Amino acid sequence: MNRKPTYLVTAGPTREPVDPVRFISNPSSGKMGFAVAREAKRRGARVILIYGPAALVPPRVDEAVGVRTARDMMDAVTGFIGEADVLVMAAAVCDYRPAGYSENKIKKGAGGLTLELVENPDILTEACKVKRPCVVVGFAAESGNLLENARVKLEKKHLDLIVANDITSPGMGFGSDYNAVAILDRDGNVENIDRTTKEEIAVRIIDRIESLLAG
Ligand code: CTP
Repeated sequence: MNRKPTYLVTAGPTREPVDPVRFISNPSSGKMGFAVAREAKRRGARVILIYGPAALVPPRVDEAVGVRTARDMMDAVTGFIGEADVLVMAAAVCDYRPAGYSENKIKKGAGGLTLELVENPDILTEACKVKRPCVVVGFAAESGNLLENARVKLEKKHLDLIVANDITSPGMGFGSDYNAVAILDRDGNVENIDRTTKEEIAVRIIDRIESLLAG
């Protein structure tokens, strides 16, 4: 590719509201996606960052859009996908949301409380139906059978690369500055990256993306 590529990167968790004071979410900090966005920008790419609620300040990129729910994130991603040469879905999207939203705070009653959940759309799948960028990268957060599960996701979501990590490893992953990952590609290769900073992992991911763009 001769012109500079446009990267569309997602980061952080999504937040699915239950009532005005409660939500369902996960401990994603946004660090991994922010590191990818920052590194792509450093290499001269145009970068669009869509990020869920994060305590960290997002990096300076060309466009940054803060969103809350998975559906908001999907609208933002599908809105920008036409411009993207590369999609990196680092966000930890909530798979489920409450079936209903209570405008009033749910009061404590006798006994327990059962929440009905419905499935959120799969953002990767929906966005790639609008337009598939040249390179699509997904992440897999697994608590067992890491490589097998990651390979299934790579195939099912028609990804070029998947970055897999074992969320049960102590001192790494969600919220941490460090991670250890395996990058799987469509040719069956597995690149293992031992515990290192998320900045270094971003460098390695973008090296792989650049060689796919060049090929
Ligand atoms: N993803 C997405 N939309 C969702 C859920 C996940 O686009 N609604 C993306 C994530 O950003 C990630 C990839 O899909 O790049 C895999 O996410 P993961 O949560 O590991 O997989 P799921 O497809 O949700 O499968 P499961 O939770 O059953 O492991």
